[in-house]
Amino acid sequence: MANAMLKTTEKEPARALVLRRLTGALGAEVGGIDLSRPLSPSLKAELDQAILEHSVLVFRNQSLSPTQLKQLGHQFGEIEDEPFIPKLEGHKGVYLLSGAGGARLTTQNLHWHVDHSYREIPSYGTFLYAVDVPEVGGDTMFASMSKAYEALSPAMQRIAEGLVVIHDVLQYGLQAGHMSLARPEFIGRLQGMRSVYPQIEHPLVCTHPETGRKFLYINPAWAAGIKGMSPQESQALLSFLNVHATQQPKLQCRVRWENKTLVFWDNRCVQHSPIADYTDARVMHRVAIAGTWRPA
Ligand SMILES: [Fe+2]
Repeated sequence: MANAMLKTTEKEPARALVLRRLTGALGAEVGGIDLSRPLSPSLKAELDQAILEHSVLVFRNQSLSPTQLKQLGHQFGEIEDEPFIPKLEGHKGVYLLSGAGGARLTTQNLHWHVDHSYREIPSYGTFLYAVDVPEVGGDTMFASMSKAYEALSPAMQRIAEGLVVIHDVLQYGLQAGHMSLARPEFIGRLQGMRSVYPQIEHPLVCTHPETGRKFLYINPAWAAGIKGMSPQESQALLSFLNVHATQQPKLQCRVRWENKTLVFWDNRCVQHSPIADYTDARVMHRVAIAGTWRPA
């Protein structure tokens, strides 16, 4: 059967969620749930399982005030308080993403990344909620890093498994271009972030702490070099791996937003990339759930 709805059988307990996979790689749209209400233990368990199976969950038509979004997040863990992301006034832990649209966006778009891989313990996952989004444009792409690892040849997998990557918050200013040093107003912000987050090392191949699946832990925004390699070797290998991990549609899904769409992703094992192809304002609320796992 083409679509992967969860089915109930006489032997299985009834399931409330209705899931439809987005692509063969990852992602599922989830029906049968109102996230503005507290989750029952069984529903929470179903959601936890769905996250592990699909990595990206999309919920449509959810009416969530900033307070309700935070209450939802609390049910999945501690809510992060990130110093360098614009906050929604009066709602600690809720972050305001407000795209200016037009040319400014094309210079600020972060492209492919894992949230906070420059930290010792990156976020577990992120809730992103569409408050007021353009009718078209501004989709978000997701790529499965498990699929990316599995798509490498066995020979390259063996090479990758012995390597350690240096993640640096400056990478996205110096190389990735998100906050280019050609924009002097960003230098102070980058310096501030660097003083809080020194370089950190993570293995190139990690094992998911809950599923046991191996995945590539890399992203062009923060992965600055490979430990022990010359800059030329490092750049060549990172360049190959970044293209491999982020430029293959067979490893990806794409979420089209509409107002009241909520997306949750497992930040440990997927990369995401916003697409700056819109000019109208785009307002979203974001709650990040603190991780407890150091990439390993
Ligand atoms: Fe992000």
